[in-house]
Amino acid sequence: PPATGAPARAEIGVIGGSGLYALLDDVTEVTVQTPYGPPSDSVFLGEVAGRSVAFLPRHGRGHTLPPHRINYRANLWALHSLGVRQVLGPCAVGGLRTEYGPGTLLVPDQFVDRTLGRAQTFYDGLPLPDGSLPEVVHVSMADPYCPDGRRAALAAARANAWEPVDGGTLVVIEGPRFSTRAESRWFTANGWSVVGMTGHPEAVLARELGLCYTSLALVTDLDAGVETGEGVTHAEVLEVFARNVDRLRTVLFKAVADLPAARDCVCSHALDGLETGLAGVPEP
Ligand code: ADE
Repeated sequence: PPATGAPARAEIGVIGGSGLYALLDDVTEVTVQTPYGPPSDSVFLGEVAGRSVAFLPRHGRGHTLPPHRINYRANLWALHSLGVRQVLGPCAVGGLRTEYGPGTLLVPDQFVDRTLGRAQTFYDGLPLPDGSLPEVVHVSMADPYCPDGRRAALAAARANAWEPVDGGTLVVIEGPRFSTRAESRWFTANGWSVVGMTGHPEAVLARELGLCYTSLALVTDLDAGVETGEGVTHAEVLEVFARNVDRLRTVLFKAVADLPAARDCVCSHALDGLETGLAGVPEP
């Protein structure tokens, strides 16, 4: 718990991607336990523009967790248990079109799941952490991202003279390897925009908890089917992310400041009509 003895709470969560391991100054570090095991790291609580923010480094602060080892359920559960109801999810992606080169910021409106066997639901028919048996729940994923969050992210980028790409499809691969040229060309041929490794199941689990989730995809490289060189390397991803991390932080702060305080979006109604909701999730 924080040193002040005040309850550890936050309204907005940010899950930092490759190269974003710290976001806030003057943080209170809290360790959060979840029924699904430990999250990727401690949660760092702070304030931006009068809004309380919880930052969680997705890969751990020393980048120790590869995408397929991240405990996505614990991460989302931890943020929700702190009171978070809106989540911003910056991530590094590869561009699938020549015009989406390194440094492009794309705010996707769709994703395609190409991951394999990741724990992707809280509603798997087993007893919930409180011992109750959940309903069978099928959340809507037609529009996976929060419209209000997307609007705030796009406006924040524009306010910082970083013209974002408004919409597009993020294809999420299992990794940790990058795509072959054939896979990459196939993604492009399908009309998909960018490729990453963490967007799924993060967005799904957020929706299952009724959280708003917004992806901010920072292009760090052109994927193998688009570029003509040797293909992408992890070092390149980290280097380009590092070069853009200051303006990404500025955009995130502005988006946090502008997120609506009251929610009435599709995400906020994701669990409407359920008899029990997700029993065992502490409400703020
Ligand atoms: N993350 C950053 N660049 C990527 C790429 N080309 N493919 C998958 N994930 C990525």
